Amino acid sequence: MWDYTEKVKDFFLHPKNTGEIQNPDAVGEVGSIICGDALKLTLKIDKTTGRITDAKFQTFGCASAIASSSVLTELIKGKTVDEALRVTNQDIADFLGGLPKEKMHCSVMGREALEAAIANYRGEKKPVEVEGKVICKCFEVTEEKIRKVALENHLTTVEDVTNFTKAGGGCGSCVPEIETILKDLWSSPQAQEMPQAPKPMTNLRKIALIQDVLEQEIRPRLQADGGDIELKDIVGNRVIVSFRALCVGCPMGDITIQGIQEKLRELVSSDIVVEEE
Ligand code: FES
Repeated sequence: MWDYTEKVKDFFLHPKNTGEIQNPDAVGEVGSIICGDALKLTLKIDKTTGRITDAKFQTFGCASAIASSSVLTELIKGKTVDEALRVTNQDIADFLGGLPKEKMHCSVMGREALEAAIANYRGEKKPVEVEGKVICKCFEVTEEKIRKVALENHLTTVEDVTNFTKAGGGCGSCVPEIETILKDLWSSPQAQEMPQAPKPMTNLRKIALIQDVLEQEIRPRLQADGGDIELKDIVGNRVIVSFRALCVGCPMGDITIQGIQEKLRELVSSDIVVEEE
């Protein structure tokens, strides 16, 4: 049994944005049913602003594939195409409170579908890593994809590559070639120039940052309008708050919560979810 977070279970049991948009402005299809995972992402994009106004997905895959795809649609709705392209597979996993390492390929599939959909919207060719020399025939994984995913996620072992791409997870005959690719990749000038993987933020640092943002950015604005807010608890990525003064019972409460969430995601961590007690 996989050790899924509550968030993964929730998005799996109650996925958001399932289905297919009629007359979409962008379509991204990745994976194949033969390989065990497939995802189709359809987007509606406002041509004037470049904003993604709707996103839906259909997937063939496990609980984490469904949860990752659903979270992806939530993360990109309302963003411009350029902003959406900055959503990484790690953002998807972080939003879910983490994925078992063996399931990280589900978050990678989401990121690939997004790239494919935006390439489709822009009239560009499929992302290069989808084509090219196939290294792992069991899962149809190309050399370009292994290099790209390894670089983006700082993968240094075959096991890591298997977790993030599935390559090497079948008959194993491609393992020596993956080892050669990794060796070559991490001794290349391209890899030497890569910034070091950022150290994950400690819980203490995260809590302190959330408190700072609430005290310095949020509360003064609410107090200026006669309202206020109190931080009640922080549980994982959930920030639980309670309204005070004129904010209590305010019909705009949901919008206020959304605004606070946006701010905390921008300044602290992209996976934060704000809830009212
Ligand atoms: S060819 Fe890669 S696992 Fe079989």
